[in-house]
Amino acid sequence: MEIVITGAPDEIGDLVAGAIARVLQARPDPTLGLATGSSPLPVYRQLIDRHRRSEISFASATAFLLDEYVGLPSGDPQSYRRFIETELTDHVDLPPDRLHGPDTDRADLLEACRDYERLIRDAGGIDLQLLGIGSDGHIGFNEPTSSLASRTRLKTLTPTTRADNARFFGPDEEVPLHVITQGLGAILEAGHLVLIAMGAHKAEAVAAAVEGPLTAMCPASVLQLHPHATVVLDPDAAWRLRLADYYRQTYEHKPPWQVI
Ligand code: F6R
Repeated sequence: MEIVITGAPDEIGDLVAGAIARVLQARPDPTLGLATGSSPLPVYRQLIDRHRRSEISFASATAFLLDEYVGLPSGDPQSYRRFIETELTDHVDLPPDRLHGPDTDRADLLEACRDYERLIRDAGGIDLQLLGIGSDGHIGFNEPTSSLASRTRLKTLTPTTRADNARFFGPDEEVPLHVITQGLGAILEAGHLVLIAMGAHKAEAVAAAVEGPLTAMCPASVLQLHPHATVVLDPDAAWRLRLADYYRQTYEHKPPWQVI
């Protein structure tokens, strides 16, 4: 696992947008896994800027959402599909029919989960998967005690996650209780995992994921099993890491040809 401790959100955005740009440029049919929430926003801003400067194109790309709320009407402004459209894909040249998410409107949600995994497999898997981390250590919406081998499925959000996400909802709106999320085993199949965390409220979960034991109690610790996982942190999110100095030194002395 590579740990990169950077400065301002713009630096994080630039670094991770660079990794995504390389995927877009290197592959004929690139596939991206997109997370919602605050953490990836600096990356999406940088991708839009790079697209406006004609440095990158999403024309041959396919994008897959990591998760989606169950119970919101389609097109709801709080849905994760709408979030990604507003924050990224409405502003770049990704063909709208190549933005995919779990179909939470289906009567048979189990079938919707299986079909979503099939869609990802048929696209050749995900080249680069962006991830945030919950203050309880979740990735996607794999809450604590999720099987480290879990597949895409229906999950119930913890009260902590619902409270954390209430900031995106109006005062009279309820955060849905259920979601469909890619499972931890499914996430591990992506070629490159890039997890972003900012802020001291993430520091404990980050330390558990990076330096703690591999455990379903901290689902993000499953990154320890992936051969190409990058964790990009601001100093606040990194403050509980015991080996922070070592990670900084490693990154400073990285050979110029070795990119994240
Ligand atoms: C979002 C997702 C979640 C978030 C996590 C962090 O698609 O799957 O795991 O990445 O809850 O959210 P933020 O970035 O808002 O702190």
